[in-house]
Amino acid sequence: MPLAIQQALKFGSEQLPHSDTAELDAELLLLFCLDASRNILFTHPDQVLSVEQEGQFNALLNRRQKGEPVAYLLGTQGFWDLELSVAPHTLIPRGDTESLIDWVLEQSWQPKHILDLGTGTGALALALAHEFPAAHVIGVDLVKEAVLLAQKNKTLNNIQNAQFYQSDWFSALASEEFDLIISNPPYIDEDDVHLSEGDVRFEPASALVAKENGFADLFHIANSAQTYLQAGGCLLMEHGWQQAKQVQAYLIQQGYEKVGSGLDLAGRERFTFGFYPK
Ligand SMILES: C[S@@+](CC[C@H](N)C(=O)[O-])C[C@H]1O[C@@H](n2cnc3c(N)ncnc32)[C@H](O)[C@@H]1O
Repeated sequence: MPLAIQQALKFGSEQLPHSDTAELDAELLLLFCLDASRNILFTHPDQVLSVEQEGQFNALLNRRQKGEPVAYLLGTQGFWDLELSVAPHTLIPRGDTESLIDWVLEQSWQPKHILDLGTGTGALALALAHEFPAAHVIGVDLVKEAVLLAQKNKTLNNIQNAQFYQSDWFSALASEEFDLIISNPPYIDEDDVHLSEGDVRFEPASALVAKENGFADLFHIANSAQTYLQAGGCLLMEHGWQQAKQVQAYLIQQGYEKVGSGLDLAGRERFTFGFYPK
């Protein structure tokens, strides 16, 4: 017996008992299969799914049951005002990372020359390019597929003022100077139990794991960034919710000034900033 939309929604959420967001997951997957907007749930709840739609819905539910993130199943994720393509070569952009953009927008200065290290989908670089159309933004990533994805997202979002390159952190950069260097680098310790739980199991270690209890990339970036910062320029890095004190201490030790941390959506210290002395 073919399912109608409202029955499919109920069936779908019942198939996902291990997801904290079962109803939302089922809704997003169903709308994807229907190739329709959310309105259809209210305007045509009795519309019957075609055989193809029902088959595709069941296949996606099966993959979600095994833990695959909804964003990878749909191939897209919203970030800031942008719709980004996502792929298993890099991280799915998180809402918490938008807190870094909020912080930049709260400052009295406007960055003009921005570098995003470990750009992944291009999330931070493209959001900043979108917010500061007069700025020039460079995004780099070690993973070639991530660079291609960021370039694709630039085109999809019709953004002109961003460029993406493959680079091991700063290695491919010429002797340029930036007034804002932003990064959401890998910062999870390789023994962290969360790596074997939930959606994160499907994301690549190259986007998540760093040596030295998760601090290696944060410290490397903080150490090298000074060569690429203008006097008075800002370094802004996302990190784990228990890493703020160590990152602050490291930045102060390296000579950064006006060092501080900001909060994520759950009110935890999740990013730290410092300014290169004038
Ligand atoms: C946590 S993800 C962040 C992705 C994106 N900026 C975001 O916020 O959604 C870290 C990114 O750093 C990249 N990465 C890891 N090591 C790197 C390196 N040595 N040089 C440049 N990028 C690197 C990974 O490929 C990954 O895309």
